[in-house]
Amino acid sequence: MVLVNVKDQLTNNFIAQHEREQMEHQLAAARDLLDKRVCPGAEYTGWIDLPETFSEDTIERIEATAERIRRDFDVLIVVGIGGSYLGARAVIEALSHHFSSLLPDEKRGCPLVLYAGHQLSADYLFDLLEVVKGKRVALNVISKSGTTTESAIAFRVLRDHLFRYASREELAQRIVITTDEKRGALRRYADEMGITTFVIPDDIGGRYSVLTPVGLLPIAVAGLDIRQLLEGARRERKSSIAPLSEGLSAADRYAVNRLLLMRKGYKAEILACYEPSMRYFAEWWKQLFAESEGKDGKGLITMSVDFTSDLHSLGQLIQEGPRVFFETVIEFKNVRNDIAIPSDPSDLDQLEYLAGKPMSFVNRQARRGTALAHVSGGVPNMCIELKDRSLHSLGALIYFFERACALSGIMNGINPFDQPGVEAYKRNMFALLGKPGFEALREQLLRTSAEEGD
Ligand code: PA5
Repeated sequence: MVLVNVKDQLTNNFIAQHEREQMEHQLAAARDLLDKRVCPGAEYTGWIDLPETFSEDTIERIEATAERIRRDFDVLIVVGIGGSYLGARAVIEALSHHFSSLLPDEKRGCPLVLYAGHQLSADYLFDLLEVVKGKRVALNVISKSGTTTESAIAFRVLRDHLFRYASREELAQRIVITTDEKRGALRRYADEMGITTFVIPDDIGGRYSVLTPVGLLPIAVAGLDIRQLLEGARRERKSSIAPLSEGLSAADRYAVNRLLLMRKGYKAEILACYEPSMRYFAEWWKQLFAESEGKDGKGLITMSVDFTSDLHSLGQLIQEGPRVFFETVIEFKNVRNDIAIPSDPSDLDQLEYLAGKPMSFVNRQARRGTALAHVSGGVPNMCIELKDRSLHSLGALIYFFERACALSGIMNGINPFDQPGVEAYKRNMFALLGKPGFEALREQLLRTSAEEGD
C-alpha cells in the first residue's frame, strides 16, 4: 500500500488531462536527470538513496547518544537555523504532546527539546536562559558551515551562560556537534575539545538533511523511533523511483500539477493542515520549496495555514481575494485521539444535531466543505492523504516532498539544491557589523542608508 496518496480531482477544473499528459516527457527527462545524478546541483543528491543506505553504525550511535541525553538531561537545546533545525522541529512538534513544555518531566518521559540560534533576538535568548535555569541542559549545535552568524552567536551565549565554569570533560558531556566531516569552525572546536560529533554528509544540503543526524538526533532525544521514520522514507523512495511505465508516483503527480498551475499564472501555493501540530512541518515545507525553487525570477510563493484557525483570518482572502493561490492540503485518514461531542438537551448553542459525533467527523467535513468552497472561488485544491500522523507516514511525507521539490525544480530549469540568494543579506549584515574584509561594502551601504535618511 502506498503511504502518500495525492488526490488531485479538485484541480480538474483548472488543468486539462491533455496538459498533464503533455508534461509527461518533461517529467521523464527530469526523473532521468535526477536518478542518474546529472541534474543541476547533482553533487547534492545524496538524500535520494539515504533511507536505503543509512549506515546501521550511525543509527546505533545516534540512538546511544540520544539515550545518554535522555538519561542525563532535562532539556536539549537544538542550536541551528534553516535546514539545520526545521526538519527536527517539524517531526518533533508533529508527534509530541501539544503542551509538552507544560508537562511534568516524568510525564513527558524525555528531555524538553527547545531551540536557539534560529534568529538574532536577545529577548528570546534571555527568556530561554531564564526558563532553563537550574535544569540539566545539553546542547546539540548543528551547522554545516560552522560559521552561520545566528547559530554561532547563540552557541557562544549559551556556552558562556550555562557552561562558563564547566571543565573540558563536562563540556564534552553536555555538547553534541553535528557538522561537516572535515571542515569548519565547529569541526575544529569539537576535535580540540573531544566533543561527540555527527557528520552532515557532503552531498546533502541543509533543507534535505532531516533524515541525516541533523534531524535524527534531536528526534531520537524527543523519544521518537528514528527507524520508523527512515522506514517510511524508504517505502516512499521505493514507490517514487518505480519506472514511469508503472504510472506516476505521488511525487510525480504533485510536481506536475504544481508546475502546471504555476505556468498558468498561479503565484502562490498554500499548504494547509487541519492539525495544529503540523505547523512546523509546514515551516520545513516552506523552506524546502522556497529555497529550492525561488531563483532566476522563478518559483512559487510558499505560504502555510492552520485550518480551521486561519479560515477566520485568511479565509476571506483565499475565497475572494486575488486569484493567485492554489491550495495543497495534508490530510490524515485516522486521528490519534478522538472526542465525542457531548449532548446538551437545552441546545442553546444549536449543536445538538452533532451530539455523539466525533470531533474528527466535524474536522473532516470542515475540510471537505472548505476545499469545495475554495475550488468554487477559483482556488485549485490538491490533497495529500496519509493514513495517520505517525513516524512512518511523516518519514514518507518528507521523502515525498524532497523528491517532488527536486523534480519540479529540474522541470522548471533551475538548480533545486543551491541557495545563492541567501548570501545577499549576510554580506550586508557583515559589512554593517564591521566584519573585516567588508570595508568597501560598508562604506557603500552607509552612504545609501544616509541618503535614505536611515
Ligand atoms: O537549507 C540550507 O542549506 C540552509 O537553510 C542552511 O541549513 C542554513 O543556512 C544553515 O546553514 P549551516 O548549517 O551552515 O549553519
